[in-house]
Amino acid sequence: MVRHVRTFFVILCILTISACKESRQNDGAADPVVLGYSQLGDESTWRTRNSFSITTAAQKAGIKIMFEDAMQDQANQIKALRSFIAYKVDVIAFSPLVETGWDTVLGEAKAAGIPVILVDRMIKTSDQSLYACALCSDFRREGRKAGEFLVKKYKNVSGPVNIVELAGTEESTPAIGRFEGFRDIISAHPKFRVIFSEDGDFMASKGRELMNKILDLYKPEEINVIYSHNDDMTFGAIEVMQASGIRPGKDIAIISVDMTQRSVDYLKLGVVNCIIECNPNSGAQVMELARKVVAGEPVPKRTYIDEQTFDEFGAVGNIPNRGY
Ligand code: AHR
Repeated sequence: MVRHVRTFFVILCILTISACKESRQNDGAADPVVLGYSQLGDESTWRTRNSFSITTAAQKAGIKIMFEDAMQDQANQIKALRSFIAYKVDVIAFSPLVETGWDTVLGEAKAAGIPVILVDRMIKTSDQSLYACALCSDFRREGRKAGEFLVKKYKNVSGPVNIVELAGTEESTPAIGRFEGFRDIISAHPKFRVIFSEDGDFMASKGRELMNKILDLYKPEEINVIYSHNDDMTFGAIEVMQASGIRPGKDIAIISVDMTQRSVDYLKLGVVNCIIECNPNSGAQVMELARKVVAGEPVPKRTYIDEQTFDEFGAVGNIPNRGY
């Protein structure tokens, strides 16, 4: 049923776009740019905001968007990309669920002459000509920021400092970058020990599951730090800790990535100790890149989005409302 409804919407969208193109041609005005956008899912608060940013920016820029949600399934994303190629959109943008497995479909887009923009996450390929440009976060830097916070927080502690890690979707760029960047820093300090690291898929429900598992394996006093790859998993873990009488931020230090409003509130309350921003508001930049690649203008191969870090050592009172 859900599949039929989605198919209906894609067809409707395509018909609307074709009708619109036709009427534009008839009245002599320039065709609007048509963008096929494949979002990987709706797993987190960050993702919901990102989809909002993309769709509203398209509307504002006068770009016709065919927006498809792949529901965390790479096969759905590939199917969406193929439908965009079949309908000859002007440009494709997508947020790849994982890094590998894209070469064939992107080769098809290239053969059809449709430029591709990577948004949020990267792909692993030996053929860099398969995409025109990428706009994403520097996930390795985010991981390093988490490590640097720990070095500062525990500078007068001899250790061991036991860390549990709630990791993001396996094989995804943010999970890889946040894992590696964190270790770039803590590996220079043997007192830091990652005693647990598992994939929680960036979801609150999995954060809850993982935290229950961790508390089955370890006594709370054996855990010093939780390093969570996103806020939703953090929120799930916090709920479990609080239900078990553990004071998050005090008994166990918490580092979280994303910087949604709820985590900013937690930082102010001392429930979370460090938040690293991952910026979902990329819509306007995506539309600008889309216009440029369609016009054949030069664009940088990779652009990183601006991001900040806040922790218990700085002033947190004036952080502006995040809106999500
Ligand atoms: O790729 C960005 C990450 O994906 C965000 O940190 C997370 O919340 C999302 O699901």
